[in-house]
Amino acid sequence: MVDKMIKKAILPVAGLGTRFLPASKSIPKEMVTVVDRPAIEYVVREAVEAGITQIILVTHSSKASIENYFDRNFELETTLEQKKKHDLLAEISNIVPAGVTIVSVRQPQPLGLGHAVLCAKDVVGDDDFAVLLPDVLVKAKQATHDLTQMIARFDAAQAAQIMVEAVPDHLVDQYGIVDVAQIPAEGQSEVMKGIVEKPKQDQAPSNLSVVGRYILPAKIMQLLEQTPKGAGNEIQLTDAIALLQKTNVVEAYRMQGQTFDCGSKLGYLKAVLHYGLEHPKLGHDFKQLINELDL
Ligand code: G1P
Repeated sequence: MVDKMIKKAILPVAGLGTRFLPASKSIPKEMVTVVDRPAIEYVVREAVEAGITQIILVTHSSKASIENYFDRNFELETTLEQKKKHDLLAEISNIVPAGVTIVSVRQPQPLGLGHAVLCAKDVVGDDDFAVLLPDVLVKAKQATHDLTQMIARFDAAQAAQIMVEAVPDHLVDQYGIVDVAQIPAEGQSEVMKGIVEKPKQDQAPSNLSVVGRYILPAKIMQLLEQTPKGAGNEIQLTDAIALLQKTNVVEAYRMQGQTFDCGSKLGYLKAVLHYGLEHPKLGHDFKQLINELDL
């Protein structure tokens, strides 16, 4: 039997990160540190834990530090070796696990998320694939991670999977919002009736927002080529998914884990708190620091 599991993931990282200025003026927002590693490493780990073996970065000329981070650094490795800093050496050598490759393509113009995904068309070829938006970190609350469940459901149902979570009504205009016949229980998928990018509150079909994790059939690339500019005068992935849904079953998967929007400053601070407290080496002392704060 042909192995049909999802093995490729597109991570669009070409965005300028205006929500994270001034830091993102000269550091890619994806490289901003959450505890002791850049935010994007958490997203790459999430993909790898779900069985992804090829990460496709859709990137921009100002973001070479992302590619450098996932490359080997021969000089640094040699120095650590000579100084017998074996723990550190092991840590920096294992950022990309064996068997996983990271490739990058450029998005030459900022034409939107749909366009960014389309830039990876030739690398994806005829394979179905995942998309993970690196602004959002997803922390698992259960043994089987959400992305793993989405991939299993994609294979079982042969239906695209769009990860959603409920947001307060006044925030619906910041997200893609789905329309579903029945609200899925957490960890479950339900057939999607529609999807719309950043609707006004009084026009939103629900409060189930698109989180930034998608499992999509290869066919979506052809649809992206036909997708006209939409919200924000950009080619929207949401609009291509709406086109897909006219001919194929698309499902909304309701996540179980917790999200941190590291594209926003407060979301980032929250991520640092949560991941800091759980850090195997720093967590205990970090908790003590927080307890000592005179709030
Ligand atoms: C993008 C998507 C949107 C989704 C959001 C999640 O929007 O277009 O559908 O809900 O990511 O973070 P952006 O945040 O890039 O404007």
